[in-house]
Amino acid sequence: MEPMIKENLKAHISNNNSNSETILGLNTLLSNYQIYYQNLRALHWLIEGKQFFVLHEKYEEWYTEAAENIDEVAERILMIGGKPTHTLEDYLVDSEIKPIKNIYGAEEGIQVVYDNNKYLLEHFKKVLKEAEKADDEGTVDMMSGLIKNTEKRIWMLKSFLG
Ligand SMILES: [Fe+2]
Repeated sequence: MEPMIKENLKAHISNNNSNSETILGLNTLLSNYQIYYQNLRALHWLIEGKQFFVLHEKYEEWYTEAAENIDEVAERILMIGGKPTHTLEDYLVDSEIKPIKNIYGAEEGIQVVYDNNKYLLEHFKKVLKEAEKADDEGTVDMMSGLIKNTEKRIWMLKSFLG
């Protein structure tokens, strides 16, 4: 699954900004991240069964972390001369991660988190490459941190799924 940058996002940056590709990548990341966040909230609310106590808490831990990262991504966009998208409408249009509905089971829920994290990981790497090209070390550093945390989470999710 190749992360894509939607055309409508190009309206959010000026042509002469050397960070324009990074801003596009970060804005698409922001949209995917927002849908991922809402997916985790849905899973937190809907989880049923024997894993309830563990996963109810785990989903909360993950969405809390996602909320902090979302804020960092949006503020980074501003720091490098862009404007973060900020409506649910834009997020739905720009996100490749799809909103989930009516998922109650543990395995099914963790599979969603696994798939979403795999997608985010590819997207972080893509933004990192764009930021490297623009000598934007702050964004490179941010993406490196996200990549490291996400790789660890993917490993744990994979262990759960067996
Ligand atoms: Fe809660």
